[in-house]
Amino acid sequence: MQLIIKDNYKELSKEAAKIVIEQIKSKPNSVIGFATGDTPLGLYKELIKAHKNGLDFSQIITFNLDEYLGLPDSHGQSYNYYMWDKLFNHINIKKENVNIPDGTAFDPEKFCEEYEAKIKKSGGIDLQILGIGRNGHIGFNESGSKFNSRTRIVNLTKQTRKDNAKFFEDINNVPVQAITMGISTILKSKKIILLANGKEKAENIRKLMNESKTEKFPASALKDHPNTIILVDKDAASLLD
Ligand code: GLP
Repeated sequence: MQLIIKDNYKELSKEAAKIVIEQIKSKPNSVIGFATGDTPLGLYKELIKAHKNGLDFSQIITFNLDEYLGLPDSHGQSYNYYMWDKLFNHINIKKENVNIPDGTAFDPEKFCEEYEAKIKKSGGIDLQILGIGRNGHIGFNESGSKFNSRTRIVNLTKQTRKDNAKFFEDINNVPVQAITMGISTILKSKKIILLANGKEKAENIRKLMNESKTEKFPASALKDHPNTIILVDKDAASLLD
C-alpha cells in the first residue's frame, strides 16, 4: 500500500481525480469501480469538471460496490439514485455500461452470482475507488467478512445503520441488508484507491497502516494487494507517526 497525504479534502479530491483521469486517458474503455458515501463527492465534482473540459467517458464500463437491499433505483437514498445524481447524469456515460447492484432483484442471490460473473466477463476492474466505514468496512463488507468473500447479501451492523441514518429521516428507515461486492471481488481489481478524510477516519487509517491483517477489520485485506493507494487528508492522517 502506498500512502499519499494531502493538505485538505479539496487537494485529496483533485489527486483522486488525477488518478481516475489518467486511467481513462490511458485506456478509454477502462472498467471503473465506483463507491458512494460523502467521501468521493469531491472526486465526482472534479470528474464532472474534467468532462466539461473534454474528457470522454463514453467507453468506460462501471461497477458499483454495493446497494441497499429493498430500495428501488428511484429511492432518493438508493446508491443507484446517488450515482446518477452525483456523477452519471453529468458526464457522457452510456447507460448500458453502468452496473449497480439491483436492490429489488427478484432473486438477489442469483443476481449476486451474475454480477460477479459480469465483472469477470468485462475483463475485471481496472481501477476501484473505495471509502472506508467507521468500523473499517469496505463496500458493505462488515467486520468478520471473509477475505475470500464474493458478491453477496449481507446484514448491516447497528453501527453502519446508525452512521448511514444521516441520509435517511430515521434509523428505522435504513435497510437492514445490502448487496455488496465481496472482499475477494475488490482485491481482484488491478488498482485500488481508498479515500479517507476528516478526524473521524483517523483511527481507521492508523489501524490500516500500523496493525496487521485481520478479518475483524475488513480494510486490512488491502495490505495484500499489490497496487493500492491510500489517499488521505491531514486530519485522517493525524494519528500516524
Ligand atoms: C457506506 C458505503 C461505503 C462507504 C462508507 C463510508 O457504508 N457502503 O462504501 O465507504 O459508507 O461513507 P462516508 O464516505 O460517507 O464516510
